[in-house]
Amino acid sequence: MGVSRARTAHVCTECGTSHPKWAGQCAGCGEWNTLVEEMVSSGLATEDHGPRATRPTSGDARPPQRLDDVAATEGATQPTGIPELDQVLSGGFVPGSVTLMGGEPGIGKSTLLLQVARTWQGSVLYVCAEESAQQVRHRAERLGAIRPDVWLLAETGLGDIAAAVDEIDPSLIIVDSIQTVLDPSVGSTPGSVTQVRACAQFLTSIAKRREIPVVMVGHVTKDGDLAGPRVLEHLVDTVLSFEGDRHHSLRLVRAVKHRFGSTNELSVFEMGDSGLRPVSDPSELFLSDRRAGVAGSAVVPTLEGRRPVVIEIQALTHASAGGIAARRTTGVDTSRLAMILAVLARHAGLQSAQHDVYSSVVGGVRVSEPGLDLGIALALASSLLNRPLAADAAVFGEVGLGGEIRQVSHPERRLAEAARLGFTHVVAPARTPEGPAGLQVIRVGDIREALLVTGLAAAH
Ligand code: TYD
Ligand code: MG
Repeated sequence: MGVSRARTAHVCTECGTSHPKWAGQCAGCGEWNTLVEEMVSSGLATEDHGPRATRPTSGDARPPQRLDDVAATEGATQPTGIPELDQVLSGGFVPGSVTLMGGEPGIGKSTLLLQVARTWQGSVLYVCAEESAQQVRHRAERLGAIRPDVWLLAETGLGDIAAAVDEIDPSLIIVDSIQTVLDPSVGSTPGSVTQVRACAQFLTSIAKRREIPVVMVGHVTKDGDLAGPRVLEHLVDTVLSFEGDRHHSLRLVRAVKHRFGSTNELSVFEMGDSGLRPVSDPSELFLSDRRAGVAGSAVVPTLEGRRPVVIEIQALTHASAGGIAARRTTGVDTSRLAMILAVLARHAGLQSAQHDVYSSVVGGVRVSEPGLDLGIALALASSLLNRPLAADAAVFGEVGLGGEIRQVSHPERRLAEAARLGFTHVVAPARTPEGPAGLQVIRVGDIREALLVTGLAAAH
């Protein structure tokens, strides 16, 4: 017969894999030092036979229905009322779906969700498990989010949340944050992997049953005490990632997982005195501090989802003081930088082994699309040679291992955005089409040619 007893297991905070014994490395995802001890209840012992005996039904479960008869609610998104956010969500929240909003503490998650509460068409239950109701009211006043249809629940227990949902019958639930809510039937502390997962599963069942969207805030922390939202990513339909530099006002929101639309759409906000304001022209903002004519800088029309955004990439190379030369990047993948340095050395004769190399995307954006490659390469070459690129030139293209410049997606959108911002020349891959009138496309086949046409290298 099933004996209910608690045992412990070692659960990975990154992927949730459970191990009977502690180990330095997780067998599930290969991460190091991510296992934490957790109590797990083993109420359903293995001696039981037959599924009915071991798995009680939930009592009020819905009977199976023909796939034919299932209402086609797909696409029935409800806008959040913040168009900049709706763009990332491909229209808004989908009824019955669960969205996780991840980001570092202080980045603006609570602020944005209170702004959603303000503009949402319908009643909202805002579970403030992290702050007192007074604190939330104070912030809501600042954001103009006080309206009769917004309900606050300053409780952390799942039972209280379920009761509040029954009482208020909201059309949107916001749980701030998933790490602070508590399932009393699970014997471990709030924020632990087991708790976070149990709570998320419960909230998911509420979303599905009531056919309303649930949004959960998840803090991303570097210390292992809190369960990283990566454990949750598998459970939810949508993962929004909130990025930006806490010390700057720019905030980026993108969907890193989205069952109902495309991912990697980008929303850009600016944190101001009364909350987050959409930035209608991110390219202009990203370029606002640019000093043209400085060595080590290149301008790249990148593509964030379908949206072209022009950014500046900077590089600084400096003779290293000895020892291992430094390679530091912000917003650029370090291995990409290493690859491009190797291509410059091998195919353009530009050596940097004795140099410390720094490279960053200005504005705190992370760019992972290949169109940035040529910008990185030319910014590096410009710094190594101490020669600036022309102020009115932009560049894009993927750099291959053979030094060839490869085509990237949607060149025409990139050209149009560069032209809109007043650039007159774009250095681009060989098969790039013509751009708008007034914009000259300079096509290059390989990295050498790119250095020649930009005047960084002399023909010989
Ligand atoms: P918050 O939404 O509390 O962050 P999170 O929920 O992600 O932890 O935002 C915190 C920061 O934003 C805090 O430093 C104050 C700042 N802020 C503004 O600058 N303007 C505002 O209107 C609001 C509400 C917050
Ligand atoms: Mg918060």
